[in-house]
Amino acid sequence: MRKKVTIVGAGNVGATAAHWLAAKELADIVLVDVVEGVPQGKALDLLEAMPIEGSDVTVTGSNDYAPTKNSDIVVITAGFPRKPGMSRDDLLRANAEIVGAATEQAVKLSPECILIIVTNPLDAMCEVARRTSGFPRERVIGMAGVLDSARFSTFIATELGVSVENVHAFVLGGHGDQMVPLPRFSTVAGIPITELMDGATIERLVKRTAGGGGEIVALLKTGSAYYAPSRSIAEMVDAILKDKHKILPCAAYLQGEFGIRDLFVGVPCKIGAKGLESILEVKLSSQEQAALAKSAEAVKELVGALG
Ligand code: NAI
Ligand code: 2OP
Repeated sequence: MRKKVTIVGAGNVGATAAHWLAAKELADIVLVDVVEGVPQGKALDLLEAMPIEGSDVTVTGSNDYAPTKNSDIVVITAGFPRKPGMSRDDLLRANAEIVGAATEQAVKLSPECILIIVTNPLDAMCEVARRTSGFPRERVIGMAGVLDSARFSTFIATELGVSVENVHAFVLGGHGDQMVPLPRFSTVAGIPITELMDGATIERLVKRTAGGGGEIVALLKTGSAYYAPSRSIAEMVDAILKDKHKILPCAAYLQGEFGIRDLFVGVPCKIGAKGLESILEVKLSSQEQAALAKSAEAVKELVGALG
């Protein structure tokens, strides 16, 4: 029997994630959204592409959770974007309500699922899903690091004029301005980029990575990035469904790792069929550790505002 993946939120990120998953024939997909007709319409449109793609998965759209029963993975992308006049805390509370309700309804019908959280502010929304579901940390994982690392990889490959396949970039920390791209652990064909570029160039790429989400918003004006974010979701789903034991940077609930406790922060995770299998605690320099602690502090503040 094929695996089932539910995606809550059939907007730009959710629907495009469904597109990647269906094209890869990874699982049957259920799209859930509150807007009547939208998940159904997008699901049917995608389903009708499958004969051309040669993929036998089913794609279903729904305004309720009944078709999501016994999902292996539930991806939550539902939420508001930040609107003019809305403070960070207003957005936090509005999306916390949506993510909380989505989690509650989804896990009732899929108590064994793995939750992948995407809605922003990412690290705080992971905490909402963890509290609401009562799931162990192995089954609540946040998507951000795969995206932030892909952005860093893109900029490195472009700068050096090499294949993106040669680049492995690593970004840790919360999904915000304080994220921590790590040049020492970012390599081209195994060579750290610190050997291949001068400090000023690296600094420029690091800054561009940290502002990568904002760069797309400034260009699009009416929304935020979705191609790279949704492909990042597919990467995590693929690692879980194929039990790949793949090292991916994900938001995980830390229990003392990197000196951080009871907080979701982006760290290198081994991802497989059980979800989060382990965390790779690499030794950071004092400067890197301080940057990670600062990033964690920003997440802590947001989680504090959740009450
Ligand atoms: P969007 O506005 O295109 O889609 C959001 C969808 O959620 C809409 O279709 C809306 O109807 C739906 N929705 C709202 N309340 C709902 C509810 N209670 N139940 C089900 N569906 C509901 O936004 P987009 O671009 O898809 O982004 C979604 C979220 O993902 C945003 O919070 C965004 O900031 C975040 N994001 C996070 C990234 C990350 O790296 N973690 C990357 C990109 C986006
Ligand atoms: C991004 O980084 C908006 O979090 C989203 O593109």
